[in-house]
Order: sequence, then structure tokens, then C-alpha cells
Amino acid sequence: MTGIPMGGGEGVSFGSGHSPFEAIGGESSVRALVDAFYDQMERQGDAAEIRAMHPPALDQSRDKLAWFLNGWLGGPQDFVERFGHPRLRQRHAPFQINRAARDAWMMCMGKAMDERGIEGDLRAFLDARFDHLATFMINRPDG
Ligand code: HEM
Repeated sequence: MTGIPMGGGEGVSFGSGHSPFEAIGGESSVRALVDAFYDQMERQGDAAEIRAMHPPALDQSRDKLAWFLNGWLGGPQDFVERFGHPRLRQRHAPFQINRAARDAWMMCMGKAMDERGIEGDLRAFLDARFDHLATFMINRPDG
């Protein structure tokens, strides 16, 4: 642990003391969720604007989001070890994120969680935490 508060799954437990990272099924399940998420972003017309903010090849984006989520859910701190403090709002400052962009991101993640069969308490937790973080990323008014 690095002690950096990430506003995610630290200190949260499911069932018999499982962190959200364990509840989701560990690293391979986080990666599968990230892959499903970016596949949705490629597929959904409503996500075309946020897809266009990303590089043509999504390999690095997939790695970075998976590394971030591992730590954010209470698992290994790959992202922090490689890149330092997440400072997610600052890292998103170059992109124009309005309410519609936030909604498109959330739609892709919601469909990805559906696809991965994430439900129950874990789903409720993730819906709320993703919602909070995605809203925090808004840096432009609508229009
Ligand atoms: C609200 C709508 C959002 C939009 C439009 C958006 C868009 C982007 C874009 C365009 C990138 C750059 C991709 C790249 O460098 O490969 C990025 C990076 C990233 N995003 Fe988002 N994002 C959003 C929300 C989120 C949320 C909610 C999270 C976390 C749950 C997140 C986590 C990350 C991470 C970890 C990176 C890599 C940061 C870096 O190292 O530069 N993003 N995002």
C-alpha cells in the first residue's frame, strides 16, 4: 500500500472480508472489465466523441485503466507505482469533458459491467463510485 487515498475500494469489504478487488475476481477480471469497456466505446455511436479523444490504438489506455482500477478497488497499486499519484482530474484536463461525455463514459462502463455479470452489492458499490468519479471529471459546461 502506498497510503494514497484513491476514493475507491480501500477499506471496503464484501462478504467475508473481501476487498472490491477480490470480490470482482482479481486482476484478470479487472482486465476483462476494462476490455469490455473499451470494446463498448468502439461500438457505441453515442460514445464516438469520447472515443475520438483517445489514441487510435487503445492498448495503452486499456493498460492504464486496468492498472488504475486494480489499486482503486483495493488491489495492487500498479498505476501509482508506474505513474505516481493518480491526480485523475488533472490528467483529464486536456480533454473536454462535459455532462454528455460523462454520460457516454458511464454508459460504456454500465454495459461492460452487464456483460461481465457484475451484480448485487458489488454492482451497487461500483455504480456509485464510478458515478462519483466520472462526475468529478467534468471540466466543461454543456453545449
Ligand atoms: C467522465 C468521462 C471520461 C472521459 C471522457 C475520459 C477520457 C479519457 C481519455 C481521453 C484518456 C486518455 C487515454 C490515453 O492516454 O490513453 C483518459 C485516461 C485515463 N482515464 Fe479517463 N475519462 C473519463 C472518466 C474516467 C474515469 C471515471 C476514470 C476512473 C474510473 C478514468 C480513468 C482514466 C485513467 C486511469 C487514465 C490514464 C491517465 C494517464 O495516465 O494519463 N477516466 N481518460
